[in-house]
Amino acid sequence: MQHTTEPIACIFDLDGVLVDTAVYHYKAWKALANSLGFDFTELQNEQLKGVNRMRSLDMILQWGGVTQSASEKEALAAKKNEQYVGMISKMTVQEVLPGSLELLTALKAAGIKIALGSASKNSSLILERTELAHFFDAIVDGNSVTTSKPDPEVFLKAAELLKTAKENCVVFEDALAGVQAALAADMMVVGVGRAEHLPGAQVVINNLSEITINEIEALRYQ
Ligand code: BG6
Ligand code: MG
Repeated sequence: MQHTTEPIACIFDLDGVLVDTAVYHYKAWKALANSLGFDFTELQNEQLKGVNRMRSLDMILQWGGVTQSASEKEALAAKKNEQYVGMISKMTVQEVLPGSLELLTALKAAGIKIALGSASKNSSLILERTELAHFFDAIVDGNSVTTSKPDPEVFLKAAELLKTAKENCVVFEDALAGVQAALAADMMVVGVGRAEHLPGAQVVINNLSEITINEIEALRYQ
């Protein structure tokens, strides 16, 4: 990693890092799978972390051994999303994960730039419901990228919007595809979750309460 004294910038994934939406994705995908005559497990849901909506649907249909046309898949994805949006529309600030508010507040107070780098097309609704929107200097989500994680596009776009060199960006990710995207972008990466699931992350924490600004800034010297 290149040594520099330029300020760092922080890029946060949303689902699983700042808020816990996995349970809503799970309920909506399970209802869809059940309506097609097969089950969907929490273990399978784990494998969909960081994976965009259409790719998730493809994986679920494959697990269920079901083939659908492109237009049927569009309709199924829309049905799942309708149910998911119904659930996230009722989210509150209580569903912000431990340490997120404190870290975002400290970063803001320190003048460190903050971006969102998410695969979700529902990020604005979630940020609004959980009262997190005001922290972000830039938002890149599933509506503004053409390729999905592990492609680095989402994070490179965030760095560009923050006008920060990629070497100065620290990504916070709970999905392996996201860690891989951050590494492909040549950025520093903090894994959120279990170390054995997140190879490549420079450090892995259980949640954002376990890291300070000093520790984040020290990553560039590792
Ligand atoms: C990611 C989630 O953040 O967003 C995935 O980890 C999800 O599970 C993806 O499939 C897309 O979300 P959405 O809200 O656009 O359907
Ligand atoms: Mg995530």
